[in-house]
Amino acid sequence: MQLGLEKKSVVVTGAGGGIGRVIARAFADEGARVLATDLDSAVEAAASDPGIVHFAADLCTLDGAEAAVAQAVAQFGGLHVVVNCAGISEPARLEETTEASWQRALNINLSASWRMCRAALPELKKTRGNIVNIASFAGKRGTLFGDNAAYTASKAGVIGLTHALALECAQDRVRVNAVAPGPVETPMLQALPAEKRERLAAMIPLGVLPSPQDVAAAVVFLASARAAAITGEITDVNGGLYLD
Ligand SMILES: NC(=O)c1ccc[n+]([C@@H]2O[C@H](COP(=O)([O-])OP(=O)(O)OC[C@H]3O[C@@H](n4cnc5c(N)ncnc54)[C@H](O)[C@@H]3O)[C@@H](O)[C@H]2O)c1
Repeated sequence: MQLGLEKKSVVVTGAGGGIGRVIARAFADEGARVLATDLDSAVEAAASDPGIVHFAADLCTLDGAEAAVAQAVAQFGGLHVVVNCAGISEPARLEETTEASWQRALNINLSASWRMCRAALPELKKTRGNIVNIASFAGKRGTLFGDNAAYTASKAGVIGLTHALALECAQDRVRVNAVAPGPVETPMLQALPAEKRERLAAMIPLGVLPSPQDVAAAVVFLASARAAAITGEITDVNGGLYLD
């Protein structure tokens, strides 16, 4: 069976980042029409991606999410897939975490996904489309170094949102799934000292960190016609780091 993504209209958030950019490329390579959205600065950095339309939006407001959805509909004539990948991580132990940092984590990692779902659902109901949220292994077991309760709580929220929406939207034939990556080989991790990266890789049963391409492959599968019977699924891409 084909993936069935040719000419489908896809919005990817956080698409200027290490993982989102690769996800946007993976959909474009399957023949989808992709609106890659991120903050102004990140959109500029990704502006040279061929075959992908870039759109700047701040997802801290519902207006930003609605603008991204409206742009995709105007440009491509509808909407089939939303990938919520925008996120931040500001590691700190609880007593050092400021109220502002806690609120930022919830606002961008969890509420921005909710805003995109809210803005996109009327369009996704028309096309029997689907949503893929990017959660994290941290949302299931906490971070490796136990120093980021705000991030962990926000990603656990993304998993809850995915489960709740999957059930709510099933009658409309809108599927809602998530991918929960382990630590991913992004530019941020590549910048760590070699010794630290080796220690990290040694914690992973498969012995290597997942790549952004590994994450993108799972996202594309869940969004595709091959996953037509899958909803409410949280797919681990973590090399065996955490099993449930
Ligand atoms: N990198 C990892 O190891 C890892 C592991 C598990 C999960 N994840 C998750 O994967 C996703 C992508 O991570 P990444 O490593 O590519 O991070 P990244 O920082 O490279 O990309 C995140 C993007 O989100 C964008 N963003 C932040 N705030 C925004 C806002 N208000 N509106 C719109 N866009 C905003 C940023 O500009 C950035 O380009 C995140 O949700 C992250 O939590 C990452």
